[in-house]
Amino acid sequence: MQQILNGIDKLQEILKAVNCRKLFMVTDSSYPFLNIKGEIEQADVKKVCFSDFSPNPLFEDVCKGIDLFTCQECDAILAVGGGSSIDVAKCIKLAVLATQGRDALIPPLVSEQVAIQGGRIPFIAIPTTAGTGSESTHNAVMYYQGSKQTVTNDGVLPDYALLEPKVLATLPLYQKKCTMLDALCQGIESWWSVNSTDESKDYSKTAVQLITRYWRSYIFDNDAHAAAQIMNAANYAGRAINISATTAAHAMSYKITSLYRLPHGHAVAVCLPEIWDYMISHPEKCIDPRGKEYMQNIFSLISESMGASDPLQAVSLFRNIMKEMEMKNPVAVNRDPELTQLAGSVNPVRLRNNPVLLDSETLLNLYELIVI
Ligand SMILES: NC(=O)c1ccc[n+]([C@@H]2O[C@H](COP(=O)([O-])OP(=O)(O)OC[C@H]3O[C@@H](n4cnc5c(N)ncnc54)[C@H](O)[C@@H]3O)[C@@H](O)[C@H]2O)c1
Repeated sequence: MQQILNGIDKLQEILKAVNCRKLFMVTDSSYPFLNIKGEIEQADVKKVCFSDFSPNPLFEDVCKGIDLFTCQECDAILAVGGGSSIDVAKCIKLAVLATQGRDALIPPLVSEQVAIQGGRIPFIAIPTTAGTGSESTHNAVMYYQGSKQTVTNDGVLPDYALLEPKVLATLPLYQKKCTMLDALCQGIESWWSVNSTDESKDYSKTAVQLITRYWRSYIFDNDAHAAAQIMNAANYAGRAINISATTAAHAMSYKITSLYRLPHGHAVAVCLPEIWDYMISHPEKCIDPRGKEYMQNIFSLISESMGASDPLQAVSLFRNIMKEMEMKNPVAVNRDPELTQLAGSVNPVRLRNNPVLLDSETLLNLYELIVI
């Protein structure tokens, strides 16, 4: 069971509780500039730092981290960073503990929950973006031979998620927008996912309500209270998708990221309103076993939580958030071949979580609306 704690001052207590003597830190290039670096450096343990990877990490990057961890014999892992750092740390932990080693991270084993043997390595995650919720999920994203791999294993869920919102002060404005949109989309998608439960829906509702209420002051006023609320919201959204998984907007976003170099949250957010509109107008294509009335009720609950009078107004509100933040849709260079490539890229397994059936023709029509 994961512990979620608030405040960087808790780090020393956690390290003591897990009896850490030598800490393996996974950090990205922003670490030297973070306003929590001082507190982390003060922690009274030996430290080995790994930061030789880029955003959207590659398998080769993770392998360097595995080699360093193995030769340094550390007894705990601390990830400090956005989704990329936390996911690298998760992959290192899995590869070190799985009998299959680093093969557990790549096909064909990546789609299986391999057993973890060989003892435990306490794992602490401090998110420095408010978006992915990776600090509270059992997934890690990494790229192998050019394609995105999602490692799913209960053993990679951090034992501790330590939330310190003051760290968001240095996050660049565009990154703030992208990561917050990722959290908002996660909250909405998880709510309508066919795998949702009462627990995940509670998390989704909290995430969507908090973001709807605080996004402006977080993005435009640099308000510290709003930043704390958005960090909580992102964590709730992460806990929601940890139960339900994401749906079509995430599935359709991955090729947008690789083709147009849009960061993850931006790519998901350009897909979501078009899919949402389509689902509202095609209830007859509902594939949620709980039925179309159930699904339509969920759409109404989502609108309510956003302060909208009905589902179509909620979609407009979402579009207005994008417009106010000046988040633009991608522009095609060779439109037709790109649209065909996009429509062919969507993983059908991921679409099974979506409450409305999206066939190949519909995917193409949706991409025609998403890509300008
Ligand atoms: N594991 C999961 O459950 C999950 C969920 C969603 C997304 N993801 C993955 O997470 C990755 C994206 O993560 P992300 O959006 O958090 O971004 P990121 O971790 O890739 O970081 C983006 C950039 O922001 C900088 N940065 C981070 N925090 C900063 C701070 N406080 N101050 C200044 N700069 C800072 C980093 O150095 C980096 O350059 C993608 O690979 C995505 O697929 C994982």
